[in-house]
Amino acid sequence: MDNTKVMADGTKDFALRKVSSHCSISEMDDYDLSKLLDKPRLNIERQRSFDERSLSELSIGLTRALENYDGVYSPGRSGLNTPASSTRNSFEPHPMVADAWEALRRSLVYFRGQPVGTIAAYDHASEEVLNYDQVFVRDFVPSALAFLMNGEPDIVKNFLLKTLQLQGWEKRIDRFKLGEGAMPASFKVLHDPLRKTDTIIADFGESAIGRVAPIDSGFWWIILLRAYTKSTGDLSLSETPECQKGMRLILSLCLSEGFDTFPTLLCADGCSMIDRRMGIYGYPIEIQALFFMALRSALVMLKHDAEGKEFVERIVKRLHALSYHIRSYFWLDFQQLNDIYRYKTEEYSHTAVNKFNVIPDSIPDWVFDFMPTRGGYFIGNVSPARMDFRWFALGNCVAILSSLATPEQASAIMDLIEERWEELVGEMPLKISYPAIESHEWRIVTGCDPKNTRWSYHNGGSWPVLLWLLTAACIKTGRPQIARRAIDLAESRLLKDIWPEYYDGKLGRYIGKQARKYQTWSIAGYLVAKMMLEDPSHLGMISLEEDKLMKPVIKRSSSWTC
Ligand code: GLC
Repeated sequence: MDNTKVMADGTKDFALRKVSSHCSISEMDDYDLSKLLDKPRLNIERQRSFDERSLSELSIGLTRALENYDGVYSPGRSGLNTPASSTRNSFEPHPMVADAWEALRRSLVYFRGQPVGTIAAYDHASEEVLNYDQVFVRDFVPSALAFLMNGEPDIVKNFLLKTLQLQGWEKRIDRFKLGEGAMPASFKVLHDPLRKTDTIIADFGESAIGRVAPIDSGFWWIILLRAYTKSTGDLSLSETPECQKGMRLILSLCLSEGFDTFPTLLCADGCSMIDRRMGIYGYPIEIQALFFMALRSALVMLKHDAEGKEFVERIVKRLHALSYHIRSYFWLDFQQLNDIYRYKTEEYSHTAVNKFNVIPDSIPDWVFDFMPTRGGYFIGNVSPARMDFRWFALGNCVAILSSLATPEQASAIMDLIEERWEELVGEMPLKISYPAIESHEWRIVTGCDPKNTRWSYHNGGSWPVLLWLLTAACIKTGRPQIARRAIDLAESRLLKDIWPEYYDGKLGRYIGKQARKYQTWSIAGYLVAKMMLEDPSHLGMISLEEDKLMKPVIKRSSSWTC
């Protein structure tokens, strides 16, 4: 049966296929998952124009796109496509689900009576609280998605507004003033029981270990604003002058012109989830993928008014260049590895094949064994004479969700995860990076960081929070069975081990040396993974469809032809 219908503007829409949010996991196997993903569009045509306007629509017909966007706003459909938690579905919830919800609610942070976020870890046993009692922007994302999926958007709105206010603060490190658009890594609410006042302190990098600004915070903020808007249908938040300005300020930081010769964003080490020195300085894939997703999300939310229009045009240009660059130069599969292995060096001029002058001798031994015949991935970093061949889970999953990866690349990434299951998933999903660096290299790269010894923490440790990203990527690529396998692994241990922050070891068998317990994003990540697998239409709030105008540029991949 052909479920597509042709929209007024000539594009096809798959929205007609009805999907019950009550279907069980086994029933779901029978569906073509890629078709399920459009369910949110069942309810309202407005949603198509909200986030699926293609670049062509935008660059060719800015005005028409604006009319589409504004004209079909339909308020009051909140919750229509966010079925409440599994307890209300026919699906039998795992006993861990109730425990997880309880723990998630316990982590809520209130400001003047309103919930505004969740603390990073609710760990009573731990003597060293450090800053785990703060609300981290990146950590709150899975919490926010869990609340949105459960039909509780208010806390997400409060969080978005509160962090927006914090963005307006003057940010200084010693005598140096940070860019206006910087979003905090985290904030903390201080309650004064005597004066009955609540105050907030925020950290933009000036207190953080290493004094690094979190580049990912602003991107996550934009991505979350879109998730909120998509899930609730409430355009009124993203359309406020405050939110529009907040977006523009973030974009000003990353779209400014300088000495760059690449469209990717130059970063300091430790500016993202990996917030310590780990050799990710340069152009780390995690930030590039989030940058791409934030640009695409902003594109559908920015108003085309006097101030917004200029940004829309800059975004469109940047997206073209960025997708071309990453799809061409960050992509590695068997064929590409073989090509690099045979590269000539010292090529000058436009005809150079080895554009960045990568010396084949710098390819680490492990990658030759690791690379399967089928499959591929975006490597960690690309800059002059330097390719970091390590695998980073977050960047690759976000590349799939944002459609930075072409459909072929997305399935090649899933092939790789299947082929290298033991290395990348092992006994606890999911390795943050692979492989670990050790010995001399560890000394040089991490600066002898005792927290990042091999197969621990950011250096090849396993992070349960990544389960939601893996699950979302699995659903998007039509491979729910991979997610189910990963969730089964998590369910065999997470609750018993009291929701650790991370696991150590080559297979992720050991609770991390300094891992917090009741780590909120481990809890929320599990809930989001469960809810998405149960009702794949949730994926819409965190996934962007392929934009046909950004044509794939790479022809080769062994898995593409399989
Ligand atoms: C660690 C993680 C960071 C996280 C923070 C709070 O510093 O590396 O990604 O945001 O803990 O959980």
